[in-house]
Amino acid sequence: MYSEKVMDHFQNPRNVGEIENASGVGTVGNAKCGDIMRMFLDIDENGVIRDVKFKTFGCGAAVATSSMATELVKGKTIDQAMQVTNKAVMEALDGLPPVKVHCSLLAEEAIHAALWDYAQKQGIEIEGLKKPKADISEEEPEENY
Ligand code: FES
Repeated sequence: MYSEKVMDHFQNPRNVGEIENASGVGTVGNAKCGDIMRMFLDIDENGVIRDVKFKTFGCGAAVATSSMATELVKGKTIDQAMQVTNKAVMEALDGLPPVKVHCSLLAEEAIHAALWDYAQKQGIEIEGLKKPKADISEEEPEENY
């Protein structure tokens, strides 16, 4: 049911933890399944994501997608991180079962929420970034559950 990469990232998640005094912290949840993800970004003065850590209280697919998402944004610029969609994360994991696609949205939203927090603290705007939702289940189709 799950690809080897999903199993690997679920069993050995990368970049788990917290960053003290992070440049940006984002927390998103999905009220329908009850899962929560928190993403910490350390961004240097050139707008490069120097470090990233996450904590996920959620299903295996949520853990695997957040792990892969951190790998995809680490060392990247903010603009590049904005391109890390849930689709990109799923592709990097060789796919997810259809019922688990919504889990990958948590990772994308958590990155956006952390970038939003960073932008607020810096008093800047990030192109294409909208105010994130605390609960992403509002926009999701019911059949995904
Ligand atoms: Fe909630 Fe996967 S079931 S994130």
